[in-house]
Amino acid sequence: MTAQELREKFLKFFEEKGHKVLPGSSLIPQDDPSVLLTTAGMQQFKKWFAGIEKPAYRRVVTLQKCVRVDDIEEVGDNTHLSFFEMLGNFAFDDYFKKEAIEWGIEFIQNELGISKDKISFTYFGGSDNLPEDTESLEILKNILKIPEDKIKPMGMEDNFWGPTGDEGPCGPTVEFYVDDVEVWNLVFNQYYRTLEGKYETLDQNGVDTGLGFERVLALLENKKSFWETELFLGIIQKVKELATENNDHSNKVIVDHLRTAVFLLADGVLPSNLDKGYVLRRLIRRAIRHGLVLGIGSPFVSEIAKKVIEIYKEAYPELSKNKDLILVELGKEEQKFNEALSKGLKEFEKLKIEKEISGKTAFDLFQTYGFPIEMIEELAEEKGLKVDKEGFEKEFKKHQELSRKGAEKKFKGGLASGGEMETQYHTATHLLHQALRIVLGDHVKQAGSNITAERMRFDFTHPEKLTPEKLKETEDLVNEQIKANLPVICEEMSVKEAKEKGAIGLFEAKYGDKVKVYSIGDFSKEICGGPHVKNTSELGTFKITKEESSSAGVRRIKAILEK
Ligand code: SER
Repeated sequence: MTAQELREKFLKFFEEKGHKVLPGSSLIPQDDPSVLLTTAGMQQFKKWFAGIEKPAYRRVVTLQKCVRVDDIEEVGDNTHLSFFEMLGNFAFDDYFKKEAIEWGIEFIQNELGISKDKISFTYFGGSDNLPEDTESLEILKNILKIPEDKIKPMGMEDNFWGPTGDEGPCGPTVEFYVDDVEVWNLVFNQYYRTLEGKYETLDQNGVDTGLGFERVLALLENKKSFWETELFLGIIQKVKELATENNDHSNKVIVDHLRTAVFLLADGVLPSNLDKGYVLRRLIRRAIRHGLVLGIGSPFVSEIAKKVIEIYKEAYPELSKNKDLILVELGKEEQKFNEALSKGLKEFEKLKIEKEISGKTAFDLFQTYGFPIEMIEELAEEKGLKVDKEGFEKEFKKHQELSRKGAEKKFKGGLASGGEMETQYHTATHLLHQALRIVLGDHVKQAGSNITAERMRFDFTHPEKLTPEKLKETEDLVNEQIKANLPVICEEMSVKEAKEKGAIGLFEAKYGDKVKVYSIGDFSKEICGGPHVKNTSELGTFKITKEESSSAGVRRIKAILEK
């Protein structure tokens, strides 16, 4: 069975059992500021599980791309990947434990051709404040007649799942193992964990399952691990072709990290020192460092990325669609890092340290040469040194706070004066922001704004120069909105509500804080302090006067309003 056949088989099996096949979500969670990246298939359905929103379907099946970087240092063994695919069936106030477990066994046995005897199970044996899942035990033992030695109770750590983020739906699980490899996690969402850590029983039951795609493929191909499957062989081979040294661990780190980087870039994450962008940057840079270990000549990153795109393009068309952006961004990041890398390594060699690299020194290496912390730890380990990681994290947080404050100031900078022209330019800025997102894509985010009575200046994330056609399209789109006499309306709401309504803008405020959201007709909705005009008809004609680079990955547009 090929990888693509496995994906299709799963979707079809559950479709035939009344599930709606829905697309997996982006790796950037759309509606959930409590998590950085998509780590599980259930995330896009959190509100349906929690009963906050009425589910559009009772039964759903998806293929979900996931990124987990908690144990990034462990990549290279046979169980950890920073990017993986998850096949999942979901039910909202519909079927529950019995059907979920039965269908799981049926799929493995009838569709994958793996004998039922090879499957063993774990279930939730209870904890201090939550009861044992006797229902699942009863189903496994008495209804499905699974021999007792194949059913094991486990604790909170192993057989209780969720919530993702600070609060949300969660519950006991049944896990399926084949040949001692964990392949399928069946979560029975029956609780809601509150921010205070209390478990409240949900009014409705939910099923959330995740079948580990790469692991199952390895089983089906009769391979020792997923590294030997069709998903990886081609990429590993490519790394070997470029390498002059042999090192299995480095090879795997490169393959894993660049594979994840390609998927993150395709979904609009760009390398930076903040949040998602920092996750991406660490992955790319660690891969480059391991490229050095293998003696690979630079640049090489985009060569590997091309292979990743080739392997995944059928299942994930967004890779081909964003191929140019992916390759350009990887190339830029590689060039930037290479410039600092050799200098930084020399500096590292000079460090006179006996046992431990202090948090401050580690942070300096990060700050000056862009060395990700994992890389510093690896370099230290090679010399038998330790790193004060906690100290590093402290320095890092301090720095992030500062740059956040700087960014906020930059945003507010545009609004210093509330004169008539400034107010008009401010509304035009919202129109431009939205127009750019429509013309160029959702990866466009405001990176700065500056307004005077004479002109507006707008910085936004985008990897390349805008063509004259794109500029014209953007300009026309803004002018169409001006001509449409759209009303500008301000509403106050919580950040949560603003997110739910699809508002864009700076989400640095805390979840519960009240913010102002300005809507311009149905065209734009953005969090902002104002002031704005009452109607777009006040704006005159919008004209872009200049488009240029502002900094890496950020473009700058200057524009005027002509009367
Ligand atoms: N949410 C569970 C997991 O990620 C099952 O899908 O393992």
